[in-house]
Parts: sequence; C-alpha cells; structure tokens
Amino acid sequence: MGRKTRDSQYLRSARHFQARHRRPKSRVRFQGLEPVKILNLGCGTKVSPHPDVVNIDWSILLRIRSNFLLRAVAPILLNGDRLRRFNSLPNNLMVHDLSRGIPFPANSVDVVYHSHVLEHLDRGIAKEFVAECARVLRPGGIIRIAVPDYERYCRTYLEHVELCAVDGGHATIADHDALFEPLLKMSVLREAHGTSTQRPLRRFIENLLLGDARKRGETHQWMYDRFNLSWLLQSCGFIQPAVRTFDTSNIPDWLNLRLDCDDAGDEYKPESLYMEAVKVSM
Ligand SMILES: C[S@@+](CC[C@H](N)C(=O)[O-])C[C@H]1O[C@@H](n2cnc3c(N)ncnc32)[C@H](O)[C@@H]1O
Repeated sequence: MGRKTRDSQYLRSARHFQARHRRPKSRVRFQGLEPVKILNLGCGTKVSPHPDVVNIDWSILLRIRSNFLLRAVAPILLNGDRLRRFNSLPNNLMVHDLSRGIPFPANSVDVVYHSHVLEHLDRGIAKEFVAECARVLRPGGIIRIAVPDYERYCRTYLEHVELCAVDGGHATIADHDALFEPLLKMSVLREAHGTSTQRPLRRFIENLLLGDARKRGETHQWMYDRFNLSWLLQSCGFIQPAVRTFDTSNIPDWLNLRLDCDDAGDEYKPESLYMEAVKVSM
C-alpha cells in the first residue's frame, strides 16, 4: 500500500477513535486532529486510563469491550478473572490488528510504548513493527520498549548451574528445572494460557474458535537483551538507545501513566528490560 493511501486510511481510523474519545486539552495537532500523544501497543489488559494514552490490542477481551452487543452479554461469555479484568477496562481502547500497521498517520504521535509484545513477533516482522513505530512518531518522539530480559534469565540460570555443581544438585535440583521455564516455556507453549485453565467444554470451543497459542500470538518468537534490542532500534533509524528502569524515563509525567508499575507504584513485570530511544529529528 502506498504511503499516501495508508496515511489517509489511518487518518480515518484516528479520527473515528478521537470522535469517540474526546479529550479536554489539545497539544500537537495533525491535519485538524486532536493530538494523540501516547500509544500503548499490544496493551492486553495492562491499559493506562490516562487520557493522553490510546491503548491498542486485538485481544478477545477488547473486541468484546468495544462491541455494543457483545458487551451486554459479557457476563455470559466471560467468567472469573476474565470478567473482573474486563470490567476494569477503561474506555480509551482501540481494537486493531497491529500486523496491519499502526493505525495513525506518519509523524503524528509523541510516544510509542509497547511492553512484552516484541518477543511475540517473528524476527523479520519485529523489524517491520519497530520501523512502523518510527513512522508514526514525530521527529524527536520517544519509543519505549519493555521485553523479558534474556540476559537476566541467562545469568540467573548460570548462577544456579554453579550452585548445583557445588552441592551435586541434591538440594537445588527442584528449583533448577523451574529455571528453564522463563527461558523456554513461552516458546514451546501449545495451548493459550487463558484457555488452558477453563472447563473442558469451554476449553474445546475456545481452542476450536480462536486457535492455539501460536495463532493467538502468545508464544515467544525471539528474545532480546540490551545489545540486540539497541541494534534493532538503531537499524530502524532511532538514536540514543538507553536502558531505563521501570520508574525512570524521558517521557514526561511517566509514573502517572501507570504503564510499567501497578496501582501501588511497584514494578509490574520485574523480569523486564526497559529501553528508550529517540526518532531522529529531520
Ligand atoms: C504478553 S501480552 C502483553 C500485554 C501487556 N502489554 C503487558 O505488558 O502486560 C502481548 C499482547 O500483544 C497483543 N498482540 C499480539 N499480536 C497482536 C496484533 N497483531 N495486534 C494487536 N495486538 C497484538 C496480544 O493480544 C497481547 O495482549
């Protein structure tokens, strides 16, 4: 698709979203649009209620939430934890399949954020996705990425290998096998996590209708550390890649966005590597 056609299509999606979610204050304007400041891509249920954030995902919960009829029958379709998470979703949500691009025009947003999404994409697609983030960011805009920190997993694993070697594996062997889990489990997962905990009939229907873990984008396709993530960002035209912590950022008012912390202000996913970079100014 040509860039012009894609931009006008994305402009329509962005207008549609903004017509539904009017915000009190405006900052940057793009072709008469109210500003969209921060995109939270692949948000899942870790959404920010902050009015400057657009939370985007294609998950079944968000699809039900944004459909008038499905929303009415949600208590029948969902149960337990899913219903609780569904009920806590705010309104600033956009349902979109990100493999079709990011539904905003070029140079139109201030910040692109995604957490634990990149590792779910095929390597080739991951690069296209980061390049797509660069397209929608304004020059000087910030990308912030959180991924499981492969270096941390490997270090923990190797430290444990040393421990096992010292005591012959006797006291430590039970923990040792569990250490493979963060490294491997998500790559070999067959059944989607949410579905695997359901009753047999619901489980059968969900697997039939929604497909396995890979089809639903739940498996890990690659892993990142501070080096290959930094290279990926630079190969997509970003500059100044820098490791951050969950509570440090160059994004203004970061902690109030509640993206890498929980409601109590604690780190949401402590296994993460956080990296920020800047879109080069023209
Ligand atoms: C591991 S979850 C991370 C959710 C959240 N960002 C967090 O940190 O808890 C990955 C999310 O990416 C979303 N996702 C994967 N592929 C996607 C796609 N093509 N379009 C939109 N969302 C996608 C999934 O629906 C899922 O909610």
